[in-house]
Amino acid sequence: MAACYFAAMAYDYDELYRSQNDALGAPTQAFVDFFATLDQQELRVLDIGCGQGRDALFIGRAGHSVVGVDISPNGVSDLISAARDESLPVTGIVADIRTFTPKGMFDILLIDRTLHMLTEVDRLDVLRRLIQHVKSGGWTLIADERSNLAGFKAVFLEQEVHWTTKVEKRGFLFLRRDQPLVKSSSRDRLPICASVMLVSSQKTFQSSCSPSSPPAAIANCSTRPKNAKFAP
Ligand SMILES: C[S@@+](CC[C@H](N)C(=O)[O-])C[C@H]1O[C@@H](n2cnc3c(N)ncnc32)[C@H](O)[C@@H]1O
Repeated sequence: MAACYFAAMAYDYDELYRSQNDALGAPTQAFVDFFATLDQQELRVLDIGCGQGRDALFIGRAGHSVVGVDISPNGVSDLISAARDESLPVTGIVADIRTFTPKGMFDILLIDRTLHMLTEVDRLDVLRRLIQHVKSGGWTLIADERSNLAGFKAVFLEQEVHWTTKVEKRGFLFLRRDQPLVKSSSRDRLPICASVMLVSSQKTFQSSCSPSSPPAAIANCSTRPKNAKFAP
């Protein structure tokens, strides 16, 4: 399967990786800059088409755990041995991304110049499938041919969950998956509940809506407005 695919590929990356260390050079600067802005530690990152790991390795050095996936056994083998030498939390999987299903959810999905290697149907299908594995509040970071970006954006627009485009320029598309609105806790609702009760009645029910007895107090607050509280 992989052998057939390599034969059809416009460029034989497996052969390139076999013959050369660090064949693609330094990490992509836009990704280096992005990770430098993060204050969260130990994020889970999926690097699709990781090659020899120029991106996966710098991300691992920043303390994040990375799963790199590539169809090239030589690329993945180089990634794994470099990660092992430095004891980085980076693993590699040899797989064809057209059929690969990741295990679990990731904070960041990174795809550096890999989707353009697939047919249009395949690259949109792969993207559609992989973004289901990005957590709420997580990111998809893509570097690809500029002419492909509009098609990628259309994939995000068709999703039920909303994605916000944060960067779209010169072959880069970074989007963030929105966090769902979270109902605030009953404790947060109490002051509103209490104030509604206070303005809607001459009697003071403040004591029954006190934070020390939240469940009973909420049950008693029949005048609480329907749209009273959804935290951002
Ligand atoms: C231009 S290289 C980019 C490598 C890496 N992302 C980087 O920037 O250093 C494209 C990579 O996609 C991989 N690739 C191409 N088709 C693939 C497929 N169907 N499944 C998995 N990897 C694939 C190639 O083996 C190659 O490593």
